[in-house]
Amino acid sequence: MTKHKEEFPHITDPVLQAYCEEHSSKPAFITEALESATEATGQYIMASGQYLGKYLQMMSMIIRPKVILEIGTFTGYGALCLREGLAKDGIIYTIEKDPKHYELAQTVFSEAPESGHIKHLLGDAGDIIADLEVELDLVFVDAAKRQYSKYFDLLFPKLRKGGVILADNVLWKGKVGHPDNDKLGQGLDAFNKKIIADDRVENIILPIDDGVNFIIKK
Ligand SMILES: C[S@@+](CC[C@H](N)C(=O)[O-])C[C@H]1O[C@@H](n2cnc3c(N)ncnc32)[C@H](O)[C@@H]1O
Repeated sequence: MTKHKEEFPHITDPVLQAYCEEHSSKPAFITEALESATEATGQYIMASGQYLGKYLQMMSMIIRPKVILEIGTFTGYGALCLREGLAKDGIIYTIEKDPKHYELAQTVFSEAPESGHIKHLLGDAGDIIADLEVELDLVFVDAAKRQYSKYFDLLFPKLRKGGVILADNVLWKGKVGHPDNDKLGQGLDAFNKKIIADDRVENIILPIDDGVNFIIKK
């Protein structure tokens, strides 16, 4: 299953995008339970999907994090991909505020092998991040688009030196930087501007899916 293209205009040339997807490995650990839970929402578009999921998996495999934080679980696609790179005895915290999404992902995780590595937290990400007492190696930001700057301020002190943040949707279907940008896109634009002005980090925005801001703490 891939994302429905008509719902998700690619920011790159569609022919090239299709070529990239056809010539990239697929995440092999995506379970039947994950696919059917995601389909059942009628919002497959919200899940990371194969292409971004593969990128998340490979980033995690390079970093070999002990602690990962995902902000916005949905049905667990990103969590299952990121988990593939965890160090031995590592843990992934993933936060979801919608009880329906939380329940779906609970089922997905319970049926996935080695689900003990996943700490699934129900509630508002802003509240939960503030209370987390952890040192973070890798963070995937993928929840409320107007809250990205707030999430960054909350998680930055908990991120280790050299730690990585991957923030999704930062090109907002190509609307960021355009006069007809919407409210959510304006939140993402403000986040991108905040990051480039912050000399405690280095970053690069990559045109993967809806745009990923790849940020490293110096
Ligand atoms: C784009 S989906 C996440 C997709 C998932 N990361 C993946 O890789 O498949 C965003 C999720 O964030 C959740 N969300 C939105 N606002 C939130 C908040 N303030 N705190 C926690 N979760 C939130 C939504 O309910 C939704 O399930």
